[in-house]
Amino acid sequence: MRKIVVTGAKGGTGPSLAAILAERGYEVLRTDVHPWTDADGLGYVQLDLRDAAGVNDIFAGADAVVHFGSPPADAWLSATEAYHQVASAGFNVFQAATNTGVKRIAWASSIEVYGDIRKHPALPVSEDSPLAPPGIYGAAKLLLERLACDYARWHGLASAGFRLSRIIYDSETGRAKLRSLVADEAFGFDCLWSYIDARDVGAACLAWLESDLPGAEVFNLAAADVHQKVATADLLAAHGYSHLPSPSLADARQTPFSTAKIRAMLNWRESYNWREIIGLRTD
Ligand SMILES: NC(=O)c1ccc[n+]([C@@H]2O[C@H](COP(=O)([O-])OP(=O)(O)OC[C@H]3O[C@@H](n4cnc5c(N)ncnc54)[C@H](O)[C@@H]3O)[C@@H](O)[C@H]2O)c1
Repeated sequence: MRKIVVTGAKGGTGPSLAAILAERGYEVLRTDVHPWTDADGLGYVQLDLRDAAGVNDIFAGADAVVHFGSPPADAWLSATEAYHQVASAGFNVFQAATNTGVKRIAWASSIEVYGDIRKHPALPVSEDSPLAPPGIYGAAKLLLERLACDYARWHGLASAGFRLSRIIYDSETGRAKLRSLVADEAFGFDCLWSYIDARDVGAACLAWLESDLPGAEVFNLAAADVHQKVATADLLAAHGYSHLPSPSLADARQTPFSTAKIRAMLNWRESYNWREIIGLRTD
């Protein structure tokens, strides 16, 4: 593997993904819908991923793709726009990969595919938990997970879809957001106080691309703990989840999203903890 295309390169997560791959010695082609600037140099191409022919062009000669080029939610988009930004663009990525001989893809799915966790039978949420996306964004991610299985079966394309919890960008904006999440426990409720540093997302992508695992896998991706000082069980009880059996979360501050699969299959471990990210002393 020599050359890797990173989509969504000008987003919150993209710069961390491109950096870890470049540091590892790969030739990285960055792409995003935002215009090229002088600072981008030659390793950047402006492209809307809904342009199928353009996606074919930029994948030509690449060995692998890291696909994070889509909006992180659909709250401000029409259903049609969200569908095309996530599903149509994602389809173009899988199809162009097979057209051009790309062998491996790491891409961004979301914990949104699980829907309302209050309706789940138990915690922690694992990759085998029920899937019930609440809107078109999560539904489109789930569609791509299904499509990834077919592209693996039809063309041998090896892909990892990461069901990401809240990504903490490696920037002052990202750290400020994390500080506000830590300060107000009601604010982090939508992701059940789960988080993942963008640099650890990059490490997970790298682990998949450098593995020789075949097929289409999905992995929950989150740091091991919650970004709060109190036990997860207490947070859950205070926010309407006390009815859910969650024996393994009884006394710890561990995330309600199981990350056992990625730890076992890719030997991935996070390097960044919320306390260190925002400069709190560890206890
Ligand atoms: N931020 C989170 O907490 C979170 C959680 C779960 C999943 N994700 C997923 O991770 C990925 C990256 O998220 P992020 O937070 O870095 O988002 P972001 O909005 O900061 O970055 C996404 C980038 O993709 C680009 N993009 C969007 N549509 C495009 C298109 N049609 N063609 C080309 N480029 C396009 C945007 O210009 C942007 O620079 C997304 O796929 C998102 O769904 C994010």
